Amino acid sequence: MVAYAEREGADAELWGVTGLLHDADYERFPDMDDTEKGHPRSIMAELERRDVPPEMVRAIAAHADFLGVPAETPMERTLVAVDELCGFLVACAYVRPEGIHGLTPKSVSKKLKQPSFAAAVNREDVRGGAEQLCVEFDEHVAFVIAALEARADELELHGRDAA
Ligand SMILES: [Fe+2]
Repeated sequence: MVAYAEREGADAELWGVTGLLHDADYERFPDMDDTEKGHPRSIMAELERRDVPPEMVRAIAAHADFLGVPAETPMERTLVAVDELCGFLVACAYVRPEGIHGLTPKSVSKKLKQPSFAAAVNREDVRGGAEQLCVEFDEHVAFVIAALEARADELELHGRDAA
């Protein structure tokens, strides 16, 4: 989110914090059918209570398609575009000795075609993300890989070779 915000000349702190918090209630309230507290309603209510910028709350709503809030602004579309992809790229990095380093869009596409690999990640969401941003899929994947690689220390993505 920070990398795309910087590329767009947008508010990198707002985008970054939105990315960090968008799933903050998921472990405690995973039941999305719970129309009162289910993810992401609890985190939205908590952030509203804390008077965060309303665009942060709206973006969090927009990443949950079942809430019927369409992703429209650049921040909203970017959150949707990077959410599942980041999870998938981290999963790819975990199974490689060299971690995130040297991971290519081509090998990511190969892994996407293996249904058993990181099975919880929705393939349609990953593929649809690039369309949301109107960028080529490989370009989008390469951009997000580079963004994660720049944070490989804090994300612990250096792989087994580093250990
Ligand atoms: Fe979520």
